[in-house]
Amino acid sequence: MSFNLRNRSLLDLMDFAPRDIAYLIDLAAELKRSKAAGTEQPRLRGRNIALIFEKASTRTRCAFEVAVHDQGGHVTYLDSAGSQLGHKESLKDTARVLGRLFDGIEYRGFHQSVVQDIARHSHVPVWNGLTDEAHPTQVLADLLTMQEFGDRPLRQLAFCYLGDARFNMGCSLLIGGTQMGMDVRICAPEVLAPPAGLVAQMQQLAQTTGARIHIGTDPAVAVRGADFLYTDVWVSMGEADAVWQQRIEQLMPYQVNAALMRATGQPRTRFMHCLPAMHNLETELGRQVHDKFGLSEVEVTDEVFESEASVVFTQAENRLHTIKAVLVATLS
Ligand code: CP
Ligand code: NVA
Repeated sequence: MSFNLRNRSLLDLMDFAPRDIAYLIDLAAELKRSKAAGTEQPRLRGRNIALIFEKASTRTRCAFEVAVHDQGGHVTYLDSAGSQLGHKESLKDTARVLGRLFDGIEYRGFHQSVVQDIARHSHVPVWNGLTDEAHPTQVLADLLTMQEFGDRPLRQLAFCYLGDARFNMGCSLLIGGTQMGMDVRICAPEVLAPPAGLVAQMQQLAQTTGARIHIGTDPAVAVRGADFLYTDVWVSMGEADAVWQQRIEQLMPYQVNAALMRATGQPRTRFMHCLPAMHNLETELGRQVHDKFGLSEVEVTDEVFESEASVVFTQAENRLHTIKAVLVATLS
């Protein structure tokens, strides 16, 4: 089955219907197979794509670049340091210029309203590569990963997201899981819960997709029976360093460790993380947090991160295949 997603932007998962999301996951699986078999057909020949990054990135940038290259297209990378972006030229003007030169634009930055403005003014498809509110391409990769590792269809699988649930990952996982009719558990202290309006909207959507939604504060309850435990950094890009102390106090009970993995009661529970993760002292930030707060592992223990249960590097690889699916579906 194929759906016409041509010329559509992906600013938020809610831009697409559940059947469109299912189609993109299937297309990504097909593209993954054809790349492995050496039979991939380039469908973006002659296409030029701009990548705007106002925040740092490893996976998203590389996945876009490799996806476009694999499909025969070309990318141009722009950041705040090496372009007029923000300093000398407004995003509205930049969007109007880029819309004349490129067939599509990826944008990573701060507020969702900015990626919406770029789409409004550029008149070409725009893909959200992460904002404070949403990380839709990440969740497409996560859904593909859950489909690959789950031994049942997505709608029969349960995942639990633990951590800062008001930010991009918590919100986008809530949306994606609801769209796919999954058993969705979001576990966070009340102050870090997803926005009430979004929860109400998802509860409404769940009536048609069959999703089961649990928003709670008790990890022992939320993880029971979960096929996947998912976490993210406790302090996101763009947040002030000053929030670390409070965030550690709020989120320590939600750390994914061996005891929490056992608390699912499922020997086959997998661990997921969008990455980068703070699980050891091998990063500058990890050492700073250690020196200041005495923690050598933060949202996940090194034991769980490095365990057989961890599927984080398949998730990272699946960024490529799912981003490629989005590009092929919206541009080719
Ligand atoms: N998960 C993710 O978006 O990674 P990057 O920040 O490296 O792009
Ligand atoms: N919540 C994290 C996600 C990184 C992929 C951040 O915004 O920094």
